[in-house]
Amino acid sequence: MPEFTLTEEQTSLRDLARKFARTEMLPRAAECDRTGRFPEEVYRKAHEIGLMNLNVPTAYGGAGLGLVEQCLITEELARACSGMTTTISANNLALEPIVLGGSEEQKQRILPPFCGRYNLASFCLTEPSGGSDAGALRTRARRSGDEYTLNGEKCFITNAPHADLYTVFATIDPELRHKGITAFVVPRTAVGVVAGKDEEKMGQRASSTGTVRFEDVRVPVADRLGQEGDGFSIAMRTLDQTRTPIGALATGIAQAALDYASDYALKRHAFGKAIAEHQAIQIKLANMAQDVAASRLLTWQAAWTIDHGQRGTLESSLAKCFASDAAMRVTDEAIQIFGGYGYMREYPVEKLLRDAKLTQIYEGSNEIQRIVIAREHLRAYA
Ligand code: CAA
Repeated sequence: MPEFTLTEEQTSLRDLARKFARTEMLPRAAECDRTGRFPEEVYRKAHEIGLMNLNVPTAYGGAGLGLVEQCLITEELARACSGMTTTISANNLALEPIVLGGSEEQKQRILPPFCGRYNLASFCLTEPSGGSDAGALRTRARRSGDEYTLNGEKCFITNAPHADLYTVFATIDPELRHKGITAFVVPRTAVGVVAGKDEEKMGQRASSTGTVRFEDVRVPVADRLGQEGDGFSIAMRTLDQTRTPIGALATGIAQAALDYASDYALKRHAFGKAIAEHQAIQIKLANMAQDVAASRLLTWQAAWTIDHGQRGTLESSLAKCFASDAAMRVTDEAIQIFGGYGYMREYPVEKLLRDAKLTQIYEGSNEIQRIVIAREHLRAYA
């Protein structure tokens, strides 16, 4: 198990993220939530100070950080605004298939120019006809000579309306199920790429989510990641990596809710004393503190496991599933502690509950996480 003492580098990365979150993200969070504005100036600055493309090795222009460091940063950013954090983190999700499945030539050609300036990328797996059953996707890739033609539609894609690059999962034959899925890198400028508008969302409204259509998009064989049929494994291995930071993001939301609720409970008086002195409120705060601490520990455990070379399928699903369910419980209780004020838009906690909801759904719903957990768990007994 890991040491719980952070190294000097880890502490300074966490401090950098905390400062950025407080000075650049938090002051804009309520306004972006209200209006749905996409604060590009924040994302440009995040890139400028090295808080984007965290998982891309330094040799290809990224920050080259391990998952423990990525989680420390993600939690701090999400304490201020998880919507903005989702936009920033979506590059990690979209670039991981290239890191895992790309050839040396592809990494050298694609990653440094992308990471060298502010660019956004999208991971295009989910489709309107189904998201959880990734093996059943319908976007077609038909090969002719040295190129493929892509046709299909993706939905609920983070960054889609703003992305410069898409990693796209398509099938060479739907009858083959997961064995036909193949991954491609597609620039936004490719003819036939049609990015849809921003969706109106319940929470995480500073992030941008939309559809992307591929209409006879020609992709050179040189931009296929791995071999035909490697795409499903690339997608699953990518999600093993990126579900852990979703655990950190959910922990950040829950920590923010606990911070606001504790502060409020100490200041708000009822029946002649601060409500923090009433046992009913203390029990709530104690349960919330347990959820936050357990979420953080599971997330760190998953990050450490993967950083030490293991697949981490079980650990990343445990972290993502527990922390996101915990974030819902904690944000719900924070609203309860605030009482009527908690239900009002003027106060910060109702946003946190709306934001937390998405963490139970994206990067694999928590029902999918439980399938993964049960399979991995039972494997040990078979
Ligand atoms: N690593 C490597 N290989 C894996 C793997 C993993 N973690 N998980 C499965 N595989 C392999 C299996 O070993 C198997 O290989 P063989 O054929 O060689 O035996 C193959 O993949 C098929 O595996 P399964 O039989 O387990 O596949 P399944 O069809 O039952 O599905 C699933 C498994 C886990 C449910 C999968 O479909 C899944 O994860 N679904 C959820 C998809 C998801 O998370 N979508 C979110 C997209 S990202 C997003 O939210 C958008 C955004 O922008 C934020």
